[in-house]
Amino acid sequence: IRVAVIGGGRSAEHEVSLASAASVGSALDPAAHDVVALTIGRDGVWRDGAGLPLGGSSAASMSAALGVLGGCDVVFPVMHGPQGEDGTLAALLDLADLPYVGAGVRAGALAMDKWATKLVAEAVGIAVAPGYLVTADSADRVRFDRPVVVKPVAAGSSHGVSLVTEEADLAPAIAAALRIDDRVLVEDLVTGREVDLAVLQRADGALAVGPPLEILLDDGRLFDTEQKYDGGARFLIPAPLSAEEHDGLAEASRALFTALGCRGVARCDFFLTPDGPVLNEVNTMPGMTAQSQVPKMFAHQGLTYPALLDELVRGALA
Ligand code: DAL
Ligand code: MG
Repeated sequence: IRVAVIGGGRSAEHEVSLASAASVGSALDPAAHDVVALTIGRDGVWRDGAGLPLGGSSAASMSAALGVLGGCDVVFPVMHGPQGEDGTLAALLDLADLPYVGAGVRAGALAMDKWATKLVAEAVGIAVAPGYLVTADSADRVRFDRPVVVKPVAAGSSHGVSLVTEEADLAPAIAAALRIDDRVLVEDLVTGREVDLAVLQRADGALAVGPPLEILLDDGRLFDTEQKYDGGARFLIPAPLSAEEHDGLAEASRALFTALGCRGVARCDFFLTPDGPVLNEVNTMPGMTAQSQVPKMFAHQGLTYPALLDELVRGALA
């Protein structure tokens, strides 16, 4: 199977995506897969596996890239964040009739939008943190009355996310998030254990939920960009949960996967509070290095990283 693996992109998660894509490319079993690597630069220019631009502009390189993709059996877009994970790339692949791993346009767009995700989650009975939207027009009317988390509506890897516990920090936090997206979410701070679950659509279409993973953090800290990528975070698999907690989270994850219309794999991130689980967000192309949460969760269940990738590729072709 000739698999085009795409990484990079224009979002703040460019580097993370390159790392995920490199891991995927090298872990796909070479006996079954012929990997064609492509990257998208921060400038939007598509490049080949050697890093050479496929054209002089985003448009010119994209049309050359489509030719390369058209010569492959399946595309594995290992892209995080806007213009990668948000349905834009899926739209291009749909228009070109190319099969690909992961979410389509709708699920990518809905899950990339943290506000839309909250609305969908609430509609299927899953609790979310109370919050409201802020734009540049309304930013100076926001008042601080309790600790909040400020985040761009569409971003990932915690870029632009701030924990605000003092009034003086609110305006700078909103300004920082507005530099990443023109819509910003101000959410009540939820305190609880951070537990992630992954839903995998097996190649036969059946949904499997992996073992829950707990992120162990220093007290009072967010699982922020630094802890995500400096190797400081510790994962506990399986997260020690009561049967009731486990079943509630697994059911919520399946419900989200289905309601958002996900395909392939998604990771649902929750806070486990004394009042029950609260959804943080859903990632439709979660971090995919061998050290990332999803590969580790399934490996714990006996599904190795190469087998997980193979399952995703075969699912995309089914
Ligand atoms: N957005 C990052 C890649 C994650 O969810 O793992
Ligand atoms: Mg994310």
